[in-house]
Amino acid sequence: MEMNFRINEVDGVTEGDRRFMKHINHDKYVRITACEEGNKPGCLLPETFLDIAQRIRDMEVRETDIWVLSYPKSGTTWTQEMVWCICNDLDFESAKSTILPIRFPFLELSTFLTGKRGIPPLLKDSVSYVENMESPRFIKCHLPWELLPKQIKTVKPKIIYVARNPKDLCLSYYHQLVRQGLFKGNFEEMAELFLEDRVPYSPYWDHVLTYWEHRYDPNLLFIKYEDMKKDLPSICTRVASFLDEDCSDIGQLSELCSHLSFEAMKSNVSVNYTFWENTDIVSCLGDINRNFMRKGKVGSWKEEMSPHMAKRFDTWIERHLMTTDFSFYR
Ligand code: A3P
Repeated sequence: MEMNFRINEVDGVTEGDRRFMKHINHDKYVRITACEEGNKPGCLLPETFLDIAQRIRDMEVRETDIWVLSYPKSGTTWTQEMVWCICNDLDFESAKSTILPIRFPFLELSTFLTGKRGIPPLLKDSVSYVENMESPRFIKCHLPWELLPKQIKTVKPKIIYVARNPKDLCLSYYHQLVRQGLFKGNFEEMAELFLEDRVPYSPYWDHVLTYWEHRYDPNLLFIKYEDMKKDLPSICTRVASFLDEDCSDIGQLSELCSHLSFEAMKSNVSVNYTFWENTDIVSCLGDINRNFMRKGKVGSWKEEMSPHMAKRFDTWIERHLMTTDFSFYR
């Protein structure tokens, strides 16, 4: 691998890494960061990411691109659907007839495709798929700031970053990883690993806070899942104005919000990820709690997280936010 990255293998030398490897069902993991980010811990990803890491760093970025970025389980799908509809004249018919991963592909999807059963062939090489898209491209990505294409910083496409309370996110992530057959263990074990920055895409705070530092960049809009739950119309309006789109018609705005409601998205086969069932992406079916559109709530961690674990989250949150001006999730 080129010298553009610093890569550390997760080799099971430490007790924590051994625990991670016991619970996570994927061949090999690495911690990877860009070389110039000397003091960064590195993002935890399957080793298969190394096959595309450099291609992503070097890929051409277009001014007209629209990126939705997030830590997994932050409300990415919800944000993608909002952005796509806003930018496509609220064309709900096309939104319903073409699945989201085709309209709004996941840039590093290839990393996670160990088996290939049932995956649309054109998505298997996710980087090529994005490279070959017509403009304007809609791109979903979970990578931390420093692993993004270098041209992001010079071309400055529109970026919408969505963040979510780590307690809800961790629970949502747990159910998702179990659903995908990627995690073996209970929620307590998952939460423990999450607090130790030992789940895919960790560390969480480094991810969120680095994008937060860029919140005043004119090409970046930082939004929160909780605000979408509280007042979806006003977030839609903010997003539309950021994207230079008109969303002032009250009737249209209300139609958009109905299309984006949890109930509507849950039964919308274009976005509810039922299309991955019976493929190698989803291996654990039949449990209602394992639907992609699971609860869609703020505070659902209270239903499954022990008070002791919640306290540990609070301490961890406080420790990471002490020296920042990020005032949420405390
Ligand atoms: P839960 O598992 O807590 O229900 P991502 O798209 O980043 O993977 O995030 C998935 C989470 O967003 C899931 O959370 C999912 O239910 C929630 N979600 C998706 N669409 C939603 C909507 N329209 N309203 C509220 N929550 C939604």
